[in-house]
Amino acid sequence: MRVLSPKKLVCFLSIVVLLSLPCTASATNSAQSTFVHCLVNHSDHSHPIKEAIFTPNNPSFSSLLQAYIRNLRSNTSTTRKPFIIITALHVSHVQASVVCAQRHNLHMKIQGGGHDYEGASYVAEVPFFLLDMFNLRSIDVDIETETALVQAGATLGEVYYRIAEKSKIHGFPAGVCPTVGVGGHISGAGYGNMMRKYGVSVDNVIDAQIIDVQGRLLDRESMGEDLFWAITGAGGASFGVIISYTLKLVRVPENVTVFEVKKTFEKNATNMVYNWQHVAPNIDNELFIRLILEVINGSENGRKTIRATFIALFLGDSKSLISLMNERFPQLGLKQSQCIETSWLQSLLFWDNMDIAATPLEILLERQAKSLKYLKRKSDYVKEPISKEGWEGIWKKMIELENGVMYFNPYGGRMAEIPSTETPFPHRDGNLWKIQYQANWYESGKDVEDHYINTIRELHKYMTPFVSKNPRQAFINYKDLDLGINHHGMKSYFEGRVYGVNYFKDNFNRLVQIKTKVDPGNFFRNEQSIPILSHIGRVRMVTEKSLKNSILFCLFPINLVMARKGLMF
Ligand SMILES: Cc1cc2nc3c(=O)[nH]c(=O)nc-3n(C[C@H](O)[C@H](O)[C@H](O)COP(=O)(O)OP(=O)(O)OC[C@H]3O[C@@H](n4cnc5c(N)ncnc54)[C@H](O)[C@@H]3O)c2cc1C
Ligand SMILES: *[C@@H]1O[C@H](CO)[C@@H](O)[C@H](O)[C@H]1NC(C)=O
Ligand SMILES: *[C@@H]1O[C@H](CO)[C@@H](O)[C@H](O)[C@H]1NC(C)=O
Ligand SMILES: *[C@@H]1O[C@H](CO)[C@@H](O)[C@H](O)[C@H]1NC(C)=O
Ligand SMILES: *[C@@H]1O[C@H](CO)[C@@H](O)[C@H](O)[C@H]1NC(C)=O
Ligand SMILES: *[C@@H]1O[C@H](CO)[C@@H](O)[C@H](O)[C@H]1NC(C)=O
Repeated sequence: MRVLSPKKLVCFLSIVVLLSLPCTASATNSAQSTFVHCLVNHSDHSHPIKEAIFTPNNPSFSSLLQAYIRNLRSNTSTTRKPFIIITALHVSHVQASVVCAQRHNLHMKIQGGGHDYEGASYVAEVPFFLLDMFNLRSIDVDIETETALVQAGATLGEVYYRIAEKSKIHGFPAGVCPTVGVGGHISGAGYGNMMRKYGVSVDNVIDAQIIDVQGRLLDRESMGEDLFWAITGAGGASFGVIISYTLKLVRVPENVTVFEVKKTFEKNATNMVYNWQHVAPNIDNELFIRLILEVINGSENGRKTIRATFIALFLGDSKSLISLMNERFPQLGLKQSQCIETSWLQSLLFWDNMDIAATPLEILLERQAKSLKYLKRKSDYVKEPISKEGWEGIWKKMIELENGVMYFNPYGGRMAEIPSTETPFPHRDGNLWKIQYQANWYESGKDVEDHYINTIRELHKYMTPFVSKNPRQAFINYKDLDLGINHHGMKSYFEGRVYGVNYFKDNFNRLVQIKTKVDPGNFFRNEQSIPILSHIGRVRMVTEKSLKNSILFCLFPINLVMARKGLMF
């Protein structure tokens, strides 16, 4: 066989590529170029948008795309790529994206920190472009008013670092993973280890800026209380593009105390877990004790066991913590030597599994994730303590499945005081703790993926008798497409209601009304966005079903009229 010279090879390959281009390619290219024209036309000329536009033939395109992929499941060669990435450098770039996308009928995905568990910010079933918010990440902390104005592209680590730079006695209640983005995290309520003292993140948000479907920049006053309510907990990307949130800072002691205690079941952890469920949701609001259960190798060769990890933040000193624990949770046997007193900022390193003494605080400014893996998450809420027999069954099931991890985050405290209608996030009073199910794996391939995902689904199924029902509640920030996907067709409302009620309970009704009002064309949509009630959808739905089901035929129009009036669903 003749070997082609590199030059000839390139030439040959170009011809092959050119010949194999489908005839729609030039149409796509021209659509792309009119879109780009529109963007240029609609953005502020003193901030040229061209610098923010990346097409797939730009050398930075792949690295930009991969920079915020946080789940390797969404990094396969068959995962659809955006046809353009816009890395907004100015608010007008966001406005232009929203306006021009509608004008050219293009689907837009908004990306904050990229931590969506299902990759919803950068994976789509239809062609799409990516509006990447990472450049819009300024953080202004004002200690006098105890507030911070944070742009949506900032990460939690950056927010915490900038707060602590100004004050050692202020903090903000949000997640403990520093690379998570403000845009997705806070719009989905955001919880962290100060939740029992201060509620979720959105309980401490006092203002916001958003670009609405018409491309207008609105603040709380100009958007009105309904839309403001919706964007504080309904999950990202159903109502507009969040530009910033104004946070009310909270007070933290100059030194806090953390500890981590690990026990295997061979070492009598059953008793501790049983007691944890009575203590953790009821103890002082200053104390948050997360419990992690996972399957590990036992000391006997080849036998698996369960390990329980108790990891805690106490907003106080270690002496008070020990006396509190001796009184309320003696089964854990916490000792002074297991406690670390440290600043609130450093406590975040501890919670993120980093060595406090050896790690510089600047690591919180690092936007890249430490390591990437394949993952799947699910969630549940527990309302009644589980009996000892119940726990024994759970251990058996976990060992039988050989993997799977459960994180238990206790509620109670401030969480039980805030009404469930205060924000779209409804999971308040009556919950003892939230479960996060985790499957993590490191090998590629469909079989491996199926194995791990099926395992976590089976564990979730096994837990059914122990968790909330009607609806089985779930946390929107733990995005789980198993709960249902919206195809945005005629059945959109009904598809949306399935996951919507799991995530938002009765607040779903109000969200649908607000959505229908502020985005009637359903431009801001994704796999699990809030659906609209559409007139056409209603009429078609009724005709579709009428022949089959005369009872539904009678009830549907009434239901929907009443639903629009907020009477019922
Ligand atoms: C390692 C890790 C730890 C986590 N820990 C916690 C935790 O402690 N507490 C907790 O509550 N959650 C936690 N989460 C979940 C996390 O809060 C959510 O996945 C959140 O949505 C991530 O936000 P993001 O901006 O990083 O993600 P993205 O993937 O960028 O966005 C998530 C969703 O929000 C939308 N969105 C993003 N930015 C905007 C914007 N500016 N305007 C409108 N929509 C937007 C996206 O389109 C997408 O639908 C964790 C996730 C990971 C991966
Ligand atoms: C740009 O704007 C001008 C006037 O505002 C308009 O005439 C022109 O058609 C626009 N071009 C595009 C590509 O939208
Ligand atoms: C994602 O996939 C691309 C292309 O297959 C690969 O080059 C890249 O290393 C992958 N990213 C990670 C973090 O594995
Ligand atoms: C906090 O801890 C530091 C270092 O251990 C110590 O110097 C400081 O006095 C402590 N502050 C308070 C208020 O206890
Ligand atoms: C294990 O728990 C039981 C029940 O509370 C208790 O009586 C026993 O002393 C514990 N054993 C050990 C080794 O701690
Ligand atoms: C657990 O045991 C299995 C073999 O039974 C082994 O392959 C695996 O590496 C062990 N895991 C750890 C973390 O030691």
